[in-house]
Amino acid sequence: MKSLTQEKINEIRNSVNIVDVISSYVSLTPRGKNYFGICPFHDDTNPSMSVNNEKQIYKCFSCGATGTVFKFLMDYENITFSEAVKKIADIGGVQVEISEPRKIKDYKTQHDIYDLSLKFYTNNINTTKGKEAKEYLKNRNIKDSIIKEFEIGLALDDKNTLSNILKKKFEMKEILKSGLVGKNDYGIYDLFSNRIMFPLYDLNGKVVAYSGRIYKTKDNSKYINTRETEIFKKGELLYNYHRARDIARQKNQIIIMEGFMDVIRAHTIDIKNVIATMGTAVTKNQANLIKKMAKEVILCFDGDEAGAKATKACAEELNKINVTPKIIRLEENLDPDEYIIKYGKESFERKLNNPINIMDFELEYLKEGKNLENSNDKATYIKEIINEINKIDDEILKEVTIKKIVKETQIDEDILRKHITKKPKEIKKEIKSEKLSKYEKAEKCLIYYMLKSKEVIKMYDKKVTFMPTEEYRLLAREISAYYHEKKEINEADFIDYIEGDEELTNTIKKVNIQMKKETYTIDEIEDYIKVIKEYNINNAIERMQAKMRETIDPIKKAEIAQKIIDLKKGV
Ligand code: UTP
Ligand code: MN
Repeated sequence: MKSLTQEKINEIRNSVNIVDVISSYVSLTPRGKNYFGICPFHDDTNPSMSVNNEKQIYKCFSCGATGTVFKFLMDYENITFSEAVKKIADIGGVQVEISEPRKIKDYKTQHDIYDLSLKFYTNNINTTKGKEAKEYLKNRNIKDSIIKEFEIGLALDDKNTLSNILKKKFEMKEILKSGLVGKNDYGIYDLFSNRIMFPLYDLNGKVVAYSGRIYKTKDNSKYINTRETEIFKKGELLYNYHRARDIARQKNQIIIMEGFMDVIRAHTIDIKNVIATMGTAVTKNQANLIKKMAKEVILCFDGDEAGAKATKACAEELNKINVTPKIIRLEENLDPDEYIIKYGKESFERKLNNPINIMDFELEYLKEGKNLENSNDKATYIKEIINEINKIDDEILKEVTIKKIVKETQIDEDILRKHITKKPKEIKKEIKSEKLSKYEKAEKCLIYYMLKSKEVIKMYDKKVTFMPTEEYRLLAREISAYYHEKKEINEADFIDYIEGDEELTNTIKKVNIQMKKETYTIDEIEDYIKVIKEYNINNAIERMQAKMRETIDPIKKAEIAQKIIDLKKGV
């Protein structure tokens, strides 16, 4: 996917200072040779990300995130490598012509089809044929400026205008792929007609699908959505993400609603850090996007029973990645759109400033339909609450909830506490479950210093024939190969060089966790190598012993025994 030479990429990287670039996103304080800041890639409380001015890389010793200025932008802004390179080139004033990465290039025709369809739909609504649709929107309090900003359009009465337009410009194969057009014995026809068209955008703000709303007849489906296509994967996008992202980051708060009409309404009262899940269960992918947007996550779903269910499901998905959302519940079964229209901006803002915590929401939710005077109901209620308490990792919130339950149900506090477990922290769990063996630790440290010094690479080349763990083996080989090609090792260059190889990149991340020391001694390196060798020899001995057990011929057996003795001398 790289259309630029490694040299050009290096030139672009060197045209800026990583410290300046990262400072515009994260506040950094100098300490010693490095700068430190709160790592934006995990739930960081202490500044565990260091930015190295000399090496032009950043590194988090808590989650292992590392990379050059490109990787930082890619992960922070959710952009591709090419886009990050382009951005940095702009900042550094380097002239480059970067062709779009292949993935987008391949779908260019699909994007062109959508661009054209958008022109068509948005034009329709402003013609005489769009009068009724405009009227409908006006009745819903949607002004022209909003129609324009959200590019709301109209699919007309007939079923072939768009098809005919597309036919003139695109190949049939591509048109049929778009999800805008169907095909029968008579030819192709528009899949959307007589609907107000709300464009759905991908993470970069490109229109990749539509949701079409009925507005005159009483059809049984209120909205019809474009089916999934190669550019539209519903579970990977969030409505309004591209508009909300920067504002959410500034405010460090993101509000999540169910419907895009709710989001549009929030915009009209100047609440813009808001996205919509569009009526489907939140996927892991979406939860991770949300986590990256802001620390404070507020769920403001519809006020009805379905909305409460959706709130619970979404909170659960977020809990899995250690995000504890706050909740807003709306009265009278209203959705945010209806609530804002009925009660106004101030009233909604008051709600927004006083969200309830997830546990208070759970208490109310679980109480629903139960009679706490009834012992069975009460026992079920307590068990369900315990279950929920055990899912969160906010210790203080846990305490507060325990106290509430004790008061509410009169259950003995000690008995209740017996059922409360500690939720292991995501990152700590990772490290713990890894429980690095002596050998892995040696491999990890050796690679860590190989990335910093050619002296260590030379020692590896000369003395280590085989790294026991596959992922470390592959990474070490790559570093060594890189060194032989370039005759030097520069960590930043190397990180960009392996860009796109997810496995190697992840292994580097692992290598960095908990490693802070920049310097080493030769003795230390010799020790790591010794440990690795020892592992290999022990392994060989085990293989020989197994072979010996299978061998019957006494002469062969003796030969193997001798080999084992020789091997043991090496340990
Ligand atoms: P809602 O039914 O809450 O829609 O569905 P809404 O936002 O209140 O819309 P209006 O006010 O009636 O116009 C929430 C989301 O679920 C999806 C849509 O994305 C909608 O924004 N949905 C809903 C569908 O895809 N199809 C439907 O038939 C209904
Ligand atoms: Mn609504």
